[in-house]
Amino acid sequence: MSSSSSSRVAVVTGANKGIGYAIVKQLADPNLGLQVVLTSRDESRGKQAVAALAAEGLDVLYHPLDITKEPSIDALANWLKDRFQGLDILVNNAGMAYRGDAFNYEVAKNTIDCNYFGTLAVTQKLSPLLREGARVVNVSSRAGKFSRLSPSLREIMFRPDLTISQLSDLMNDFVQSVKEGTWEQKGWPKQTYAVSKMGVTIMTRIFARDEHRPNILYNACCPGYVRTDMTNPNAPLSPEQGAKTPVYLALLPQGGATGGFFADQRQWDITKEL
Ligand SMILES: NC(=O)c1ccc[n+]([C@@H]2O[C@H](COP(=O)([O-])OP(=O)(O)OC[C@H]3O[C@@H](n4cnc5c(N)ncnc54)[C@H](OP(=O)(O)O)[C@@H]3O)[C@@H](O)[C@H]2O)c1
Repeated sequence: MSSSSSSRVAVVTGANKGIGYAIVKQLADPNLGLQVVLTSRDESRGKQAVAALAAEGLDVLYHPLDITKEPSIDALANWLKDRFQGLDILVNNAGMAYRGDAFNYEVAKNTIDCNYFGTLAVTQKLSPLLREGARVVNVSSRAGKFSRLSPSLREIMFRPDLTISQLSDLMNDFVQSVKEGTWEQKGWPKQTYAVSKMGVTIMTRIFARDEHRPNILYNACCPGYVRTDMTNPNAPLSPEQGAKTPVYLALLPQGGATGGFFADQRQWDITKEL
């Protein structure tokens, strides 16, 4: 096993299946010389995925990670610190969506907790480990259309000085407004998944703005509409095709974009195009 402490290390969350699994497979290409760590919330599903990759000759390590559980994130951070003394690529891919148009307090709370607060907690806990040249990729979605917000919420979301704490307050306000039935009058759309991904996209901009160490780039992306358990078999893209933009961002050269949103192999102006 080539898990030497001198390898550049890449961690992918929610990687036992779907787009995350395809991202791991592409990053584990021996020509890239990366030590990839596949993580999943369910240990047996994750280990099965690692075994499937090993059967194809790909050397991938496994570590459990539930992005909604703080002790689980701490355990991964400590393991990375002990074993590799740092981290070079973090792909925040783990996410969830309820089927159909389910919309109630429980749906809102669980979706925002996982997609927004889970991604935030992983990034905050692993960020101190990022080495010079590190890349953070947040798998967001074009479903997170800011045009679905009221003009005043849009204006707040796009404020250049918005902080993580203010953004988290907005996400909590959304969940609370669903509980109280006031979401519409407060300017939110009836789409929890979309709101959670707006949070991920804006979070990425804030991390990029506040990062002062050299050559560490944060970008968000939409993988496209991909055939996975989250969607349906008629979606046009394979998981391998969906992995292309996240992998491209994970391997961005020095001087590449930071704080951007990418889809279809290009950067989007989220204030005008989403
Ligand atoms: N498919 C699309 O068309 C599409 C479009 C835009 C964006 N996305 C985004 O792409 C990412 C991957 O989605 P996918 O389509 O590949 O869906 P998927 O096949 O359902 O995979 C989602 C992955 O996230 C994991 N996960 C869920 N909750 C987690 C938690 N609390 N902690 C750790 N892992 C967790 C799942 O684990 P389990 O197997 O244990 O459930 C699974 O490994 C998501 O962020 C999704 O929102 C997908």
